[in-house]
Amino acid sequence: MKISVIGTGYVGLVAGACFADSGNDVVCVDINAEKIARLRAGEVPIYEPGLEELIVRNVREGRLSFTTDLSGTVGGSQVVFIAVGTPEGESGDADLSYVLTAAEAIGRALKQYTVVVDKSTVPVGTAERVRRTIAAVTRVEFDVVSNPEFLKEGAALEDFTRPDRVVIGTDSEQARAIMADLYAPFVRTGKPLIFMDAASAELTKYAANAMLATRISFMNDIACLCEKVGADVEMVRKGMGADKRIGHSFLFPGVGYGGSCFPKDVKALGATAREAGVEFDLLRAVERTNERQKRLLVHKALRHFGPSLEGRQLGVWGLAFKPRTDDMREAPSVEIIEGLLAKGARIVAHDPVATASAQRVFGNRITYAPGPYAAAEGADALFIVTEWNEFRHPDFDRLKHIMKTPVIFDGRNLFEPERMRERGFTYFCLGRG
Ligand code: UDX
Repeated sequence: MKISVIGTGYVGLVAGACFADSGNDVVCVDINAEKIARLRAGEVPIYEPGLEELIVRNVREGRLSFTTDLSGTVGGSQVVFIAVGTPEGESGDADLSYVLTAAEAIGRALKQYTVVVDKSTVPVGTAERVRRTIAAVTRVEFDVVSNPEFLKEGAALEDFTRPDRVVIGTDSEQARAIMADLYAPFVRTGKPLIFMDAASAELTKYAANAMLATRISFMNDIACLCEKVGADVEMVRKGMGADKRIGHSFLFPGVGYGGSCFPKDVKALGATAREAGVEFDLLRAVERTNERQKRLLVHKALRHFGPSLEGRQLGVWGLAFKPRTDDMREAPSVEIIEGLLAKGARIVAHDPVATASAQRVFGNRITYAPGPYAAAEGADALFIVTEWNEFRHPDFDRLKHIMKTPVIFDGRNLFEPERMRERGFTYFCLGRG
């Protein structure tokens, strides 16, 4: 199939590369000429395990290419994906200007029946707006399909090629058949293609992300409660998760959820509810808990060290919002580090891949260490913010020896509190008695 993908962000690049790898002829389009030039040279602008190899191989084998020429590309495609950004708008709603601009340009370029797919996360009613925008500028036949993407950063290729489900929102039989064909290679394991109307597909994406964010905030509240009543959240989590109806995933307390999706999508769903006149108080509570959670480690540090951190050197392990990505968008590390800096601390941080993106956030206000031990050297305390695997089994004797004082504030509950005490650390974690 001939496919074009508009937008070479996370979703666009992963979708483009995976569709090319299943034998389609894919062209990825972006208005950013510099980005396209870099992609043509085999340079992938984001860190995602396996993506660069996949792109380079498919380019070499002639199934994947990059261009800034939208109109020249769209005309020859059977399926066009819109995978441009939907940033947060002024009132917490999603800003659709990129989506609608792309839709209009697509409309002007259509030459034959085409399926236009909304892959961007967009509020209910967007497929209809995209349809109207295209219809206003063309007489060529087309269908608009809502096909939200559920991939996680750090596991994007696996999630895309082995999805739990593929949601396809359309009322057109023809578009349905084309989408089923396109996704067939990824659902051979028997995972479902779920067909529905476009509005339900759009809402599914927000509802899924908001539900996951709710689980995280719920567990962060449970962790706070555990601290007050002397319970251990790790036990509570295991006990709860063993219930089939609850399950074990997304029950880990932490420093609050971040990333490009959860914070934005919880807000956008709240905005949709408000506009529709529905009181969705739960979402506001989910956000409030998350905001508190991002400040928690700083509070713990101030309780330990006193109101000022002047003259203290603090190590930080992990800057990205989660492991296996260099993404700093809405990363809790920002709130934590800004909080510590504001109290006068000096920060020495290490992240296995996010240093360059963190530099764009903190500049030279913090020091970037080449490794975890360099970040901890001479520190009054160490903050664990992102649960990279390489932080899970450090050499504790070495760590204790190089730190000025062996104090750890662990925002990811990586270690057993009892064992840490035996090892001679003052260890603060979340919700463990
Ligand atoms: C999320 C959704 O999972 C994905 O389906 C959607 O397409 C995009 O948004 P992503 O943002 O890549 O994916 O990250 P995810 O792994 O879901 O983590 C989100 C945040 O929640 C991270 O900040 C993570 O640290 C936090 N989290 C996750 C917890 O604090 N506890 C958990 O138990 C799980």
